[in-house]
Amino acid sequence: MPTTITVCTTCRQPAVREDKERTPCGEAMLDSVLRAADEVSGVEVRGVPCLMGCEHGCNVAISADGKLAYVLGSFEPGEESASALVQYAAGHAESDTGVVPFKQWPQGVKGHFVARIPPLD
Ligand code: FES
Repeated sequence: MPTTITVCTTCRQPAVREDKERTPCGEAMLDSVLRAADEVSGVEVRGVPCLMGCEHGCNVAISADGKLAYVLGSFEPGEESASALVQYAAGHAESDTGVVPFKQWPQGVKGHFVARIPPLD
């Protein structure tokens, strides 16, 4: 069962939110995560508009059927954050429950967790 990284494509970081001329960071985040996940087994990536966490973009969700899901935010798009997210998602995919042991968390996800959502019974 793959783990999916869902990237908000319409996120704007707080500093540029009012500047409608600036491209949303979400599309850049999606591109970064797609590149980082290329050829990583067990991890899929998709983009969707707005995860309703607009105050702390860029936002992503990590989920899989029957496992804990996580929402993370306040990312800068780029190779470093994308690589950390994909590494975390690969651990999520390997876990039976979605719990990735803290010692396996890449540094780049620490401090970015917004919510943990239990699976449906
Ligand atoms: S625009 Fe990204 S969470 Fe709303």
